[in-house]
Amino acid sequence: MFYFGVDYYPEQWPEECWEVDARLMQEANINLVRLAEFAWSMMEPVEGKFDFEWLDHVVAILASNDIKVVLGTPTASPPAWLMAKDKSLFRVDENGRRLTYGNRREYCPNNPLYHKHSKEIVSQMAQHYQGHPTVIGWQIDNEFGDRCYCDTCRRAFQAWLLERYGYIEALNERWGTTFWSHTYSNWTEIPVPLKTGGPPNPGLALDFYRFASDSYVSYQELQLETIRETCPNHFVTHNLMGFQYPYLNYFDLSCDLDFVSWDVYCRTQWNIETEMDPSWFALGHDTMRGMKASNFWVMEQQSGAAGWDLIGVSPQPGELRKWAYQSIAHGADAIIFFRWRTARFGTEQYWHGILDHHGRPGRRYKEIQQMGDEIRRVGQFIHGSKINSQIAFLLSYDSRFSFEIQGNNPGFEYSTHFHSLYRAFYNKHISIDIVSPTSDLSSYKIVIAPALHIVSEEITKNLENYVREGGVLVITPRSGVKDLFNAVVDIPLPGLLADICGIEIKEYISLPKHSENEIKINWGEFPEATLKVGVWCDVLKTKGAKVLANYLQDFFSSEPAISLNKYGYGKAIYVGTMGQSRLNEMIARLLLEETGIEPYLRIPKGIEVSERWLEDRRIMILLNHTEIDQKIIIDGNFVDLLHDSLPIEETLIIPPQDVVILQEE
Ligand code: GLA
Ligand code: ZN
Repeated sequence: MFYFGVDYYPEQWPEECWEVDARLMQEANINLVRLAEFAWSMMEPVEGKFDFEWLDHVVAILASNDIKVVLGTPTASPPAWLMAKDKSLFRVDENGRRLTYGNRREYCPNNPLYHKHSKEIVSQMAQHYQGHPTVIGWQIDNEFGDRCYCDTCRRAFQAWLLERYGYIEALNERWGTTFWSHTYSNWTEIPVPLKTGGPPNPGLALDFYRFASDSYVSYQELQLETIRETCPNHFVTHNLMGFQYPYLNYFDLSCDLDFVSWDVYCRTQWNIETEMDPSWFALGHDTMRGMKASNFWVMEQQSGAAGWDLIGVSPQPGELRKWAYQSIAHGADAIIFFRWRTARFGTEQYWHGILDHHGRPGRRYKEIQQMGDEIRRVGQFIHGSKINSQIAFLLSYDSRFSFEIQGNNPGFEYSTHFHSLYRAFYNKHISIDIVSPTSDLSSYKIVIAPALHIVSEEITKNLENYVREGGVLVITPRSGVKDLFNAVVDIPLPGLLADICGIEIKEYISLPKHSENEIKINWGEFPEATLKVGVWCDVLKTKGAKVLANYLQDFFSSEPAISLNKYGYGKAIYVGTMGQSRLNEMIARLLLEETGIEPYLRIPKGIEVSERWLEDRRIMILLNHTEIDQKIIIDGNFVDLLHDSLPIEETLIIPPQDVVILQEE
């Protein structure tokens, strides 16, 4: 079943609205509603007094309109009575400031009293809705995140370290605490890396970031156990925040969930001035699909202009629908719009829902209704279908945390670097998986490891096996620099990866912001033999590798910049510099040529295309991100699922913002 739903806050509207809302939802082809994730004070108005009567009533109204329900556990925004109990319930930020009441996500994820109350509300909800015919699953909390630096967390961190290192001497050695005389003789002496303490020991900071991430994994586990025990037939998920959210190791967080869901906002008050780049959202989707290597849900899909104090740009006609289909194109098996009706009160008064504040159906309602109608017809051909990629990108949260601690160069940013490489392949109209550096890579023709800073023996073996068996691996600067403890390795860079790459880095140069170098390329047929580069220059010394490009300027002029090493049956390419998108485009083009990966169709720029397979049935989803009609040449026998399943002739015109779903016959 393909669920097409909406996030609904009946507690924010008088009871008289509920029937009308449910009817309008049904008329818009909505068959699922997420409820209650911010309604703790309605469900437990007074400590220990639970009230589900109002919620039962809402669920019954929805049920009578053929709408199923996902319940959110309400722990992201605790009631005032709970937070008034003890100030230790509040999170402490990196500056050592304790949060105060009045927003959300202000709780400390390790606080025992918070755990007790969370368990209580979750188990009351679970018991009440266990076996309910309308409730199908759960979302735990809402968008976990933000690190806590309080005393409770400091003690929990010390216990976490004890568990990990066993002996204080081992920790001292791994962190190199003789530096600045930081040697610890007792676990209780170990601090948390508050900003006020200045730049911390990188080993300590990395472990703290891992610990902070683990804290949410454990807190989620506490709720998961409760729900699983009571409602074994319900699924459990959490709504993540895509590629962009840097503070949680989403591989770990997703591990025990039945499936991943995430919240997709393409245009908000925080990117009003930025040009829309659909590849960022594509990357978000692919990352979310990669967490469990399976399809995901969109728990919040944008449904209008999005802002809190400022009002974001209004989506163009057709744009909301197109974004939702982009989610589907990358592996979404359910779309739930945020939110039903725009709030009259509270922080999010300008985060527009499907309906405006007045609650009357308008342009956005009609657009979503149309999409709902389409999903009712075609959902069965899409749901559960798979995306098969021949290219994978390695996402390393350890490396990302490490770069957060030490940025290396002011012009370098892990996620931007990652995205710019991703976009080069995305522009070639091929599907990409995002996976962990320790995952099985054997099914991929190309693996890209952007700035894989922290490299373990396990990762090295995995990459060596992959290349030895015939894979093509691309490694970029600042890879292999650090061990698992965030210490710089004591062998030539790229450290443990030097052997696969058949090179050593003779010297590395971190360039100031506006400074450039140039490289001359010696690789395949490339029309522009020279390219500008910047940010970083690794000067390579080849040890068996072939030189693909040389620097043209500075004291290392003529030295190698890019190399290719044959290793076993495969190849490892070391790209020792960064540059404009042209460098990445060149890498993408040449690699696709080398590996014989063909793009799906011959498609103009600005059209996004993706492929989903339901067993051996192929579906292609095409999205027009441009302002003009786009003409596509079709090669093969396809029917157009959205438009009466008519066969497609040789060419197809896709209007701006429009979507076409082709099914191969
Ligand atoms: C997030 C949250 C929602 C809502 C929206 C809009 O994604 O999960 O509760 O706050 O943003 O701000
Ligand atoms: Zn804390």
